Amino acid sequence: MWGGRFAEGPAAVMREINASIPFDKRLWQQDIAGSQAHVAMLAKQGIVSQADASAIADGLATIHGEYREHGVPVDLALEDIHMATETRLAELIGPAAGRLHTARSRNDQVATDFKLWVRDAMDGVDAALAALQMALVTRAGEHAASVMPGFTHLQVAQPVTLGHHLMAYYEMIARDRSRFADARARLNRCPLGAAALAGTGFPIDREATAAALGFDGPTANSLDSVSDRDFALDYLMAATQLSLHLSRLAEEFIIWASQPYGFISLPDAYSTGSSIMPQKRNPDAAELVRGHSGRIAGCMMALTMTMKGLPLAYSKDMQDDKPPVFEAHDLLALSIAAMTGMIETVTFNVPRLRAAAEAGFSTATDLADWLVRIADIPFREAHHITGTAVKLAEHEGLALGELPIDALKAIDPRIDERVYGALSVDASVASRCSHGGTAPEQVRARIAEALVALETAP
Ligand code: ARG
Repeated sequence: MWGGRFAEGPAAVMREINASIPFDKRLWQQDIAGSQAHVAMLAKQGIVSQADASAIADGLATIHGEYREHGVPVDLALEDIHMATETRLAELIGPAAGRLHTARSRNDQVATDFKLWVRDAMDGVDAALAALQMALVTRAGEHAASVMPGFTHLQVAQPVTLGHHLMAYYEMIARDRSRFADARARLNRCPLGAAALAGTGFPIDREATAAALGFDGPTANSLDSVSDRDFALDYLMAATQLSLHLSRLAEEFIIWASQPYGFISLPDAYSTGSSIMPQKRNPDAAELVRGHSGRIAGCMMALTMTMKGLPLAYSKDMQDDKPPVFEAHDLLALSIAAMTGMIETVTFNVPRLRAAAEAGFSTATDLADWLVRIADIPFREAHHITGTAVKLAEHEGLALGELPIDALKAIDPRIDERVYGALSVDASVASRCSHGGTAPEQVRARIAEALVALETAP
């Protein structure tokens, strides 16, 4: 393709380090779509003849069929998907194929292809996340009033509802979806027509190619157009943050599935056995979701380092943009699907969750709040009185609600029988009815809102 100036072919290692076809063949659909839009515009502008444009368009359609049927052949000598397709086009239609690359460079071509690919990836992730959210909302609805321990420092803190806990992840995923949506909106300007770096003297119509490819319009600066990979980094950063959320939920499932907790059991479909310990049921899928998040963050870091310090405009370093994005995307798609499957099928051990909520003096704050509300004691003092009651209960091996009234009155005479109404885990969660609180009524309100959002989403 660029042999005119060269006397010798490349060294074998040059061919190998230079070629991107082994991975950028994944852009074949976007590459053909970009070329179709480009050649249609060239014909309309009178830059190539209708006859040549038709031959090119037909040839590209044939190649599309070939790639779909047999995959993209990998020939390192053809370097990348752009050259591979153009070479095949020349085989099919002869010298007219050489007109396709008029007023275009591989630099704006690859930027366009990659943007189209990342945009599709974002759309796929968004749809998968909507399904994940639906799974969370569905399970949260089943367990809006199921009581479990809420933790801080992984110590039992206050009772919460399981539905509330699951809806926390719904919120995280909602933010993830908005991050991908932001990134998609920012991405949606078409670089095609920036040519190598400076634009072109041919009378091209960039609005037309942008519209044909579903962009909101052309990019504004040709140098930026061919050297911008922000959209790939935006994708990877959003993917990293999403994968952190998935990893945290995976981690909770791993802890909850362990025997000392026994909060959940994962179905056979998402567990594995041990080759030596017959009793084992390992939460491998959750562990791999947790593990994949590290690799996804690594991909984000890889492209960040690749882009750091590159002068304008295109440099070949930028060819390395694709492998981390492809890898992160594959890991992410698997992680979302596995997590969705686990949420849909996990069994929650409701009695065990309740028992764990009842242990650990989880309603101590409720006692303190009761003292404030009913006996008008300042919170700091109420906290101290409650601490004394917890110490006594611990010493006696009783739950707070099992302490006799005389023992409580001995700690503070302002306590009376009514306090027992505040000490059950159900009373505790029901009392936390502030907006966004854990009370079942609040959880159900948030679920109703979530269902509306999921059903009205574009
Ligand atoms: N395979 C190249 C890439 O992915 C295409 C652009 C090549 N441009 C160039 N000036 N060598 O970046």
